[in-house]
Amino acid sequence: MTAEKWIGLSLGTDIDWPACFEAMVRRLQPRFGRGKQQFDVKVRRVLMDPFSLTDPSKYVLVVDRLTHWFKFAREWLKKAALMNDVYLLNNPFTFQAMEKHSAFCAMMRLGVRIPPTVLLPQKEYPRNSPAYAKTTARYNLLFDLDQIADQVGYPLYMKPYDGGGWRGVTRVESSRELHKAYDHSGTEIMHLQRAVEPCDVFARALAIGPQVLPMRYDASQPLHARYVVDHGFLSPAMGREINILTKTINAFFRWEYNSCEAIVADEILYPIDFANACPDSSLTSLHYYFPFVVKSLLLWTLFCVGTGRKMRRNLDFEPWFAIGDDPSLDYSEKLDHYERLADEYFETAKFEEFCARRFPDIDSQLLEFFLGDEFDAILCQKVKDVFPAREHDEFIEHFRGLVRLGARGMLSPRPDKTPRRRN
Ligand SMILES: Nc1ncnc2c1ncn2[C@@H]1O[C@H](COP(=O)(O)OP(=O)(O)O)[C@@H](O)[C@H]1O
Ligand SMILES: [Mg+2]
Repeated sequence: MTAEKWIGLSLGTDIDWPACFEAMVRRLQPRFGRGKQQFDVKVRRVLMDPFSLTDPSKYVLVVDRLTHWFKFAREWLKKAALMNDVYLLNNPFTFQAMEKHSAFCAMMRLGVRIPPTVLLPQKEYPRNSPAYAKTTARYNLLFDLDQIADQVGYPLYMKPYDGGGWRGVTRVESSRELHKAYDHSGTEIMHLQRAVEPCDVFARALAIGPQVLPMRYDASQPLHARYVVDHGFLSPAMGREINILTKTINAFFRWEYNSCEAIVADEILYPIDFANACPDSSLTSLHYYFPFVVKSLLLWTLFCVGTGRKMRRNLDFEPWFAIGDDPSLDYSEKLDHYERLADEYFETAKFEEFCARRFPDIDSQLLEFFLGDEFDAILCQKVKDVFPAREHDEFIEHFRGLVRLGARGMLSPRPDKTPRRRN
């Protein structure tokens, strides 16, 4: 009997891509290995059962979408990595770095153009804590907030150092607004960051393993219309830069499922938010680009399981800093080196060869799936989950059209295997 290896999905509210991922694993029936070492890859969702710290793991790899806020799941994941060598997207041990602050610091040292940023001591401390009261009275002296903001430069953003989901983000234009925002920040630790304005283009690059998709993003639109279908919005040089930067951040921190937000102003790319433990992957926000999520997750997880790739639990900053600190290299040369290091980490050449050899028809298979009834049922369920009943018909048509367009645009089937159009 062929052995089985299981991919686990550690999920919160996601319902769309997991259903697609499961359907595609059923269709592909991936089998790897030779002779007695053969195994089939299966997928199931991780449940929150009590666990002994010595329990074996059912899974060889887990795609995690939960542990950035759900602590029980995080502790299970850490145990799975420490005790069972489970491969995890993302690495829970760099979780503390999965905040803006560390990512800003590390990328600044690599020469990336992060806008000027200052970290402020928090405005308030927990009351009824003698230890806090004594410590802050001694060491947290009064400072001149206006002077610091002047150094950063207006307009600026005040935002939590570990932010996410636009929680507590304020655009500040004046001293009055600055003090108001700080007074309201309570026990949050806040960055002041110079606003990158005027913004020529806002890009959000989603990355899974070495696969990067930069998308144009318009934050002024309602949630379902923020990703703009636009293919030529970055110059080739900017496209190269955001691609390398995103892979660099992820290889540096061992994150394999992350997104990078960057603003282009005056021909310079400024990353402003690139530590997203649970990047937006929803059908109803990504629409046209949604097939990328399913395809990239499938290929990367199957590569990891199929080749027995080991998760690297430890970080190794030194080779990166050696390049970042080298005064003989200009920024473009540094990017070349970063790309080489990132591709080494992700084994990009081996990954591409694996995809071509093991899944040569993946685009045709995905296209057939996205144009078929099984996906349509998932789409309808997702729309019903997100929108009020009176908007179901309109949004089902809307997203159906966009996903089909994206699937046809982004997946390139072999000519002889193009599935017939339905409808
Ligand atoms: N330095 C900045 N310059 C311009 N806009 C910014 C800057 N920082 C944040 N913003 C705006 O605020 C939004 C939320 O900030 P962000 O850092 O992405 O926080 P979150 O992690 O909550 O998404 C961004 O999408 C962008 O529109
Ligand atoms: Mg953001």
